[in-house]
Amino acid sequence: MTTILVTGGAGYIGTHTDIELLNRGYDVITIDNYTNSSPEALNRVEKITGKSVKRYDGDVRDKELLEEIFAHNSIDWVIHFAGLKSVGESVAKPIEYYDNNLSSTLVLLDIMRNHNVKKIVFSSSATVYGAPQELPLTEESPIGGTTNPYGTSKLFQEHILRDVYVADNSWTIVLLRYFNPVGAHESGFLGEDPKGIPANLTPYIAKVAMGELSSVQVYGDDYDTPDGTGVRDYIHVVDLARGHVAVIDKITDKGVHVYNLGTGHGYSVLQVIAAYEKAAGHKIPYTFQPRRPGDIASCYADATKAERELGWKAHLDMAEMAESSLNWQKQNPNGFRTA
Ligand code: UD1
Repeated sequence: MTTILVTGGAGYIGTHTDIELLNRGYDVITIDNYTNSSPEALNRVEKITGKSVKRYDGDVRDKELLEEIFAHNSIDWVIHFAGLKSVGESVAKPIEYYDNNLSSTLVLLDIMRNHNVKKIVFSSSATVYGAPQELPLTEESPIGGTTNPYGTSKLFQEHILRDVYVADNSWTIVLLRYFNPVGAHESGFLGEDPKGIPANLTPYIAKVAMGELSSVQVYGDDYDTPDGTGVRDYIHVVDLARGHVAVIDKITDKGVHVYNLGTGHGYSVLQVIAAYEKAAGHKIPYTFQPRRPGDIASCYADATKAERELGWKAHLDMAEMAESSLNWQKQNPNGFRTA
């Protein structure tokens, strides 16, 4: 039996990954401090899969707790999602962001080494590419030039993980660079539940579609893109979750392995709004606003390496992303707080 410790296992991507791992027959242990998540999300993972998840409630920076987890469980792989992820907040709170994101990774790696668990999948981001010099982005595209502490913390964590491998070649390190995860589980029991007013596009559109917010602010209509609005590679969170399963299934070699997890297709903000209108069955009001500082025109993946080496590719399209996301919103207008 292969056992996987999932840090941040109660979060948006974490819970969807827990489900795919459990469905595949892996044992899942989670650690989460529920800063941006809810224990209720794990109840739903158990309900959907009919399997149980062993949970530890706490912070990955808590050395004693980590010691306890590794001392009492035989762990084969760690998938490290835990961290803070709001770009705007990271600019205002750099110390908190670097402390949370970097200290947790250092504590985790230290305790993993002490217990001779040397296989880790790291939740990285396309943000490490900064402003793309070429599109699509391949894993060989230059990284750096991040514009906020959140993005820089992802970049630093990639560097830390590479250095760990340089010092000790017995590690297996997988850096997964996510493009823009959207959508929700088809059951309607799980989805993205951001606190407050969403900063990311699709949760915001969903709230407008539900009538909770009045109109979508489209940041910029003068980009060098087909319709002038920003283009991104949106990937269904269930496809993304399955990418992690493919890694655990396939990767046996030691080394540092890097994969883009995206669809390879870009959608503009207006195309995303149109997909949500279709799924909602009504118009979604929007207004054009100035560009958001730090935003780039276009970003999409060359996702062929993951397909070639892991046999993984994204299957769910924008219509399924929009439908599942609205289904989740409708069934859970207050997120996990309805329970
Ligand atoms: C953002 C982060 C990225 C992070 C990712 C997590 C920035 C600059 N980047 O990516 O580091 O990994 O979220 O999912 O914040 N938009 C609107 N109106 C809105 C919100 C967004 O028009 O209310 C536009 C943006 O200009 C962009 C697109 O929608 O063109 C997607 O924005 P968003 O969902 O925030 O994701 P990213 O900015 O791509």
